Amino acid sequence: MRAKVFVARRIPDAGLAPIAAACEVDVWPERLAPPPDVLRDRVKDCDGLVSLLTDRVDAALLAAAPRLKVVSNFAVGFDNVDVAACAARGVKVGNTPEVLTDATADIAVTLLLAAARRLGEAAADARAGRWLTWEPLGWLGQDLAGRTLGVVGMGRIGLATARRLHRGWGMKVLYTDQADVPVADRDLGAKRVDLDTLLAESDFVSVHAALTLETRGLFGADRFRRMKRTAVFVNTARGPIVDQVALAEALRSGTIFAAGLDVTDPEPLPAGHELYGLPNCVVAPHVASATVGTRDAMARRCADNLLAGVRGEPLPHEVRPAGSGG
Ligand code: DGY
Repeated sequence: MRAKVFVARRIPDAGLAPIAAACEVDVWPERLAPPPDVLRDRVKDCDGLVSLLTDRVDAALLAAAPRLKVVSNFAVGFDNVDVAACAARGVKVGNTPEVLTDATADIAVTLLLAAARRLGEAAADARAGRWLTWEPLGWLGQDLAGRTLGVVGMGRIGLATARRLHRGWGMKVLYTDQADVPVADRDLGAKRVDLDTLLAESDFVSVHAALTLETRGLFGADRFRRMKRTAVFVNTARGPIVDQVALAEALRSGTIFAAGLDVTDPEPLPAGHELYGLPNCVVAPHVASATVGTRDAMARRCADNLLAGVRGEPLPHEVRPAGSGG
């Protein structure tokens, strides 16, 4: 009998086609996520689920899906999935690491450049007819060459971002992480420091940490006060790592120079939110992995995990619960 699979949104054919060739597939056709009660109903007799970061996979969902063997998350992040609850029920969880590292690092650098050089504000002024002439004091931003980058979370994406900025702009690299990252130290001359030192010494602070109990709300008023007044803050990780009220105040008061965000809390950030109104804040709609090639590769990785899971085989990219040693 073919395995039954619910795919919680249309994903690229590179992943959907192999799933459809091997399984009986139900694809949620809407642009928005299925509401939780609908999701519960659609997975109730499924062997596999393809979830997105907008789908909450929790104990209630698992209880409603007794046949479920695998949750294949179409993302590298998996804070939407209760991995411990899945493990308790013997449900495997997969994610899509590595294939989106470059695309995400590209967006981190793009946001950093745009915020440092006030590109959003300058382009909006030009479009609105506020470009009166070439002005010696107009739209002055921050230089990048030879400055200091602070990477919060030196995983794959933090490292790829640091590589770009070290090799392209000669930046000195500081980072925080639980342990030294020898490849960063060796290749980039990077130095692991405590967060206060990183905030005090960095011209650019780029967040690449996973969302966990420890990182939720990590950037509040006190952390912004510790940064340079010329500092540019970039977040391409997860919105709840930042206290947005504190960030908006830091941007409005000139406590820091500018920010570039690809992630917010909530998502979408509602129209009219004050961060949109601040000229020194660039907000992108969570597009870091949004290239054709990257999304195809994510879809393939997602399908590989899903198909292995429904067959009872080890997942090529399995997420294990914290503390399991995996
Ligand atoms: C992820 O994969 O976790 C990103 O946030 C979306 O690509």
